[in-house]
Amino acid sequence: MAPHAFYFCLFLIAATSSSATQRFKQAPKFYNSPNCAHPTDTCSDDAVHVAMTLDITYLRGSMAAILSVLQHSSCPENIIFHFVTAASRASSTTLLNHTLSNSFPYLKFQIYPFDDNTVSGLISTSIRSALDCPLNYARNYMANLLPPCVRRIVYLDSDLVLVDDIAKLAATPLNDDNFVLAAPEYCNANFSAYFTPSFWSNPSLSLTFAGRRPCYFNTGVMVIDLERWRAGDYTTKIQEWMELQKRMRIYELGSLPPFLLVFAGNIAPVDHRWNQHGLGGDNFRGLCRDLHPGPVSLLHWSGKGKPWARLDANRPCPLDALWAPYDLLETPFALEA
Ligand SMILES: *[C@@H]1O[C@H](CO)[C@@H](O)[C@H](O)[C@H]1NC(C)=O
Ligand SMILES: *[C@@H]1O[C@H](CO)[C@@H](O)[C@H](O)[C@H]1NC(C)=O
Repeated sequence: MAPHAFYFCLFLIAATSSSATQRFKQAPKFYNSPNCAHPTDTCSDDAVHVAMTLDITYLRGSMAAILSVLQHSSCPENIIFHFVTAASRASSTTLLNHTLSNSFPYLKFQIYPFDDNTVSGLISTSIRSALDCPLNYARNYMANLLPPCVRRIVYLDSDLVLVDDIAKLAATPLNDDNFVLAAPEYCNANFSAYFTPSFWSNPSLSLTFAGRRPCYFNTGVMVIDLERWRAGDYTTKIQEWMELQKRMRIYELGSLPPFLLVFAGNIAPVDHRWNQHGLGGDNFRGLCRDLHPGPVSLLHWSGKGKPWARLDANRPCPLDALWAPYDLLETPFALEA
């Protein structure tokens, strides 16, 4: 399996030209059910914090993801969104801010411009496309970007929709073993393949996994304890692996391997229903993928294909029909209907 982040970048370049003129519909207001707590402010324990990156190219996906989170939540007014944008593109941040406020007038959110220079020097310079998507690496910096009183977040990619209450995912137990991170693990995936032979043949490097049973996990859906992250300075630990990668190639390109190096085998389990991933399809031939067996709480179009692009091209995969109801894009044909 190829690192998904690589394809994120390729897609980003391919789609940039067509996205400048998108208009979005307004989402309805969503109300708390009677038994919900009433958080008083951002720092309240009853708030559910969701962190995502926000980019013009992926905006249509993000809008659908936000709508899906609100629609399936029993306490939607308790959800606070934290959006990270690229600081180098101040005008897009203004546009994104505006678009969000228009489509979700009742949304509680905050935008954090992320200094892309933080990572541009850390991304391996050998493959140019990586330089175009430093936001891919923003998930390493959530603990620094968000206010210190935000203790736990659910991090979500933009190419997914939830069909279940995010509060259940956010409540994943982390305390028993002082876990920093929770995500669904896939122990049948070939873990060796994420790192190069020079990594595995160098004991001082591969010993990092000694005493752990490392399994692949997808960094597109994670519950993160920001307090423990800050205390353990995991941002620096991830950066150190990225610095090493610049000097010697220890993994294939992407933001995933440093997360695996630091956390694999040391994360709290999450049921697979919370990341039915790979729906973007086969990376090489664009084949459609089916759901994994079992229940579904979150559908994730990781991989090369995106449902909105396939729907626009009139070549959707069967499961893209499950994404379409969350699409807020205003179509030019709306008035004719
Ligand atoms: C987004 O817009 C709001 C209100 O219009 C403003 O207060 C806030 O500073 C803006 N955020 C950014 C990052 O531009
Ligand atoms: C796992 O991947 C490694 C490296 O790509 C390969 O050498 C090995 O044969 C694979 N193992 C299995 C069981 O497929």
